[in-house]
Amino acid sequence: MARPKIALIGAGQIGGTLAHLAAIKELGDIILFDIAEGTPQGKALDIAQSGPSAGFDASLKGANSYADIAGADVCIVTAGVPRKPGMSRDDLLGINLKVMKAVGEGLKAHAPNAFVICITNPLDAMVWALREFSGLPHHMVVGMAGVLDSARFRHFLSVEFNVSMRDVTAFVLGGHGDTMVPLVRYSTVGGIPLPDLVAMGWTTQEKLDGIVQRTRDGGAEIVGLLKTGSAFYAPAQSAIEMAEAFLKDQKRLLPCAAYVDGALGLKGMYVGVPTIIGAGGIERIVDIKMNADEQAMFTKSVDAVNGLVAACKAIDPSLA
Ligand code: APR
Repeated sequence: MARPKIALIGAGQIGGTLAHLAAIKELGDIILFDIAEGTPQGKALDIAQSGPSAGFDASLKGANSYADIAGADVCIVTAGVPRKPGMSRDDLLGINLKVMKAVGEGLKAHAPNAFVICITNPLDAMVWALREFSGLPHHMVVGMAGVLDSARFRHFLSVEFNVSMRDVTAFVLGGHGDTMVPLVRYSTVGGIPLPDLVAMGWTTQEKLDGIVQRTRDGGAEIVGLLKTGSAFYAPAQSAIEMAEAFLKDQKRLLPCAAYVDGALGLKGMYVGVPTIIGAGGIERIVDIKMNADEQAMFTKSVDAVNGLVAACKAIDPSLA
């Protein structure tokens, strides 16, 4: 059977890391696409030359033409600009919306059957716009945010409890921004919910609140340290987890920015919710029940996402 074809749209920091991870995991043959000439070709060649030592079988090719992504099974989109210190993800909206238009048209023409994972920020609005511009089915276009935000939460919790990260599960829903909703009640260590661990004296409510806030600020913390760009290792790994779930029909339950129409009281919008990813793309939205506090936070986050979508429509009337 032929290897799957993975097209990476954007060959910057995240795109290069995606290519490296996909090659090492032998997820398929890889096309790195970028408007910058030489960058995707150089990264493809560099990673390919790590193959003999790493021992993977995958072909890597750089491209500046959308024709090269033809027939892709998975497309992961990082094209656009990242933020610099002092910027919020929302500050990227104007520039990255134009990029989504170009990418959406490229996908429509050359990879209409792909499972598309968008990473470009501000995520929830960009994945919505990318879907609109591409015209692909909603269940085949998804945004990567919840896996990353949850991984950040899990990492901080594992350090606090001094337990393996593997035993910490966590859920972060809502928009990928300051209003994201880490769901403490649905987050556990070895199945024990966080509120129970507070009651057991493993941590204090104050410390837990601090971890929740640090999770919300997780991206900004890294931007502040790097100064020249934003996080790329963990974002790339998170998208690879989603791509693998699709390619291997794993039926993973992962929080993603998916199109929700009916579940969680939402009507036709993209926002971070629990999903099942398998060979059918987004196969199900998990309609969890929230308590009053969680619902209030989630509604605030949904409102923030709707505000960004309205801003996109104001910039590009073809989206209205
Ligand atoms: N088509 C294709 N590639 C593009 C386009 C376009 N229209 N516009 C820009 N690019 C490319 C740039 O040439 C660059 O190589 O996108 C790449 C972006 O890479 P980086 O600047 O290194 O950014 P990165 O850290 O990878 O983040 C990309 O993901 O997490 C988000 O906020 C982040 O929006 C940003 C995106």
